[in-house]
Order: sequence, then C-alpha cells, then structure tokens
Amino acid sequence: MHTFAGRTAVVTGAASGLGLALASACLARGMNVVLADIDPAALEAAMATMPPARALAVPTDVSEARSVAALAEHARRRFGAIHLLANNAGVAPMGSLEDSTIADWQWAIGVNLMGLVHGLKAFLPGMRAHGEAAHVLNTASVAGLLAPGGMAVYNTTKHAVVALSETLLHELQEDRVPIGVSVLCPAWFPSRLAEGDRMRPAGLQNREPVGAARKATEARLAAAAAAGRLSAQDIATIALDGVAANAFIILPHERIRSAIEGRFADIIACKSPRDPLARPAG
Ligand SMILES: NC(=O)c1ccc[n+]([C@@H]2O[C@H](COP(=O)([O-])OP(=O)(O)OC[C@H]3O[C@@H](n4cnc5c(N)ncnc54)[C@H](O)[C@@H]3O)[C@@H](O)[C@H]2O)c1
Repeated sequence: MHTFAGRTAVVTGAASGLGLALASACLARGMNVVLADIDPAALEAAMATMPPARALAVPTDVSEARSVAALAEHARRRFGAIHLLANNAGVAPMGSLEDSTIADWQWAIGVNLMGLVHGLKAFLPGMRAHGEAAHVLNTASVAGLLAPGGMAVYNTTKHAVVALSETLLHELQEDRVPIGVSVLCPAWFPSRLAEGDRMRPAGLQNREPVGAARKATEARLAAAAAAGRLSAQDIATIALDGVAANAFIILPHERIRSAIEGRFADIIACKSPRDPLARPAG
C-alpha cells in the first residue's frame, strides 16, 4: 500500500503507547483513523487529541469476536472501505512457565492471538471485496523471533502472531489480492505495557500474590522497556514506512539482528539456542 492520504486505518490498542502513535502517524499521513481499545477513559483522552472529522473511537475488546465484528461495522458505516488494519492490542504477563497461571495464558492468548484472529475475520472479507490496495500490519515483538526464559506466555503468543502473519502472506499472494502483510517485531520501548493488569478482566485476575521470582522478572523487563532507545513514535514511523515498502518483517531495533541471526544459526546447526537475556555466569 503506497498511498495513505484519503484512505482509512483501523488501529487496535489505540489508546496508549504504540497504538496511539500508529493512529497519530496514520492521521499525519492524511488517513482517516478508527481507534479501538478496551480502556474507554484512555480512548476518550486519545480522541480529544484527534481531528473529529477524520477520527472515530470505538470501545472494543479484541478478545471478543462480537466486539470486533461491531468495530468493523462502526468503521464501515463511518468511513466505508478499510485500507489498513493494524492489529496492535497486546498484553504481557511476565514469568517463567512455572510462575505463569492458567489465567495468564487465557488472558494473553485471548488478546494477543485471538484478538488478531478476530481482527482478520472481521475485516479481511471487506478488504478483499473492495479490491483497492490494502494492508494488514500485525504487532508481534522480537519475542516472536526469540524465546528468552522468563517470558513463557508472551513468547508463545508472539511466535503465534509471526506464524499467522506469514501464513496469511502466502495465502493472500496465492489468491492474488492486493493486500500486503507486515509483522512488526520491536524490542523494548517505553509504554504502559508493564501496567497491562489495569485492564485485565475480573474473571482472569490471578488469585495468588505474585511470587518473588516473577516480581523480579517483571521489574527487570519493565526497566528494560522504560530504557528503550526508540520511542513508540519512532516505531510507528518505521512501521508505516515498512507498510509503504511492503516489507514483511519490520525490525525497528538494529541491535537485535545479531541475536536473531544467532538463534537461526543455532537452529540450523541443530544446537540448543542461547538465551538472549541470560546473564553472564559469575
Ligand atoms: N512496549 C514494548 O516494549 C513492546 C515491545 C514489543 C512489542 N510490543 C507490543 O506492542 C503492542 C502495543 O503495546 P504497548 O507497548 O504500546 O502497550 P500499552 O499498554 O501502552 O498499549 C496497549 C493498549 O492495548 C489495549 N488493550 C489491552 N487489552 C485489550 C483488549 N482486550 N482489547 C482492546 N485493547 C486492549 C490497552 O488498553 C492499551 O491501550 C502490543 O502488542 C505489545 O505486545 C510492545
């Protein structure tokens, strides 16, 4: 998709962090934008910064198929054809496999994986039917290409986002429809991701207090995100440039490439991959 002006984007998780930056970047490139998020107060605050004639906010829970279907209907009624679908909403319960609860798995699979599935099911038929150039931009993470210890749930769901994106790329190419696919794989950047529990559904709250090991992992990764060198705005700009170039994988953080190369070299050599976050012994 080379032309942005006058086209319409839908961005999920648009009330904060990368989603808000993507929505703003779409507006700056002349698009109409539909902002979807589960947090109605943050969505209202985000909307207050947008031009009302070119923006629409729709409270949405991406883990619910009906909610995303309603989002698609609102978006279609207001702006007609949708050209860019940014499946970006995500949550990041941290901890090892042992420290992760079934509620963590259900929450993250619901948002990170089923949110993507619901977005594709609700929007792709319309994008195929209108026949104009269109694009799907899925936010994974570098955790979709590497699998460091201490992030069992997050790594698993983000690998699924990369796998589904690649599958979709092949299927759309086979069907010869003008819909591109990109999967965005950033490393840590500052956002509210570490405070994700604020919107965790009541039925998926953890009943037991979080253990010391999990607390330590959460604190380490929140600090790494806060210290991230690229901002959400930087990543949104790189992402839209990637969409314009029809890039499949978008890797905003250059320094992460060597770790990815190392992992795939280990895999091809049938060696156990190194843990990219492991601290040196001693
Ligand atoms: N921050 C990082 O370091 C980092 C790194 C790599 C990838 N990512 C990914 O970037 C994406 C955006 O995260 P962020 O860092 O901007 O975090 P964020 O918490 O600032 O923004 C995420 C938004 O998603 C919304 N959301 C959560 N559950 C939802 C649901 N069920 N339905 C609709 N919206 C929901 C939240 O309300 C929030 O507004 C996520 O997919 C995340 O996994 C983040």
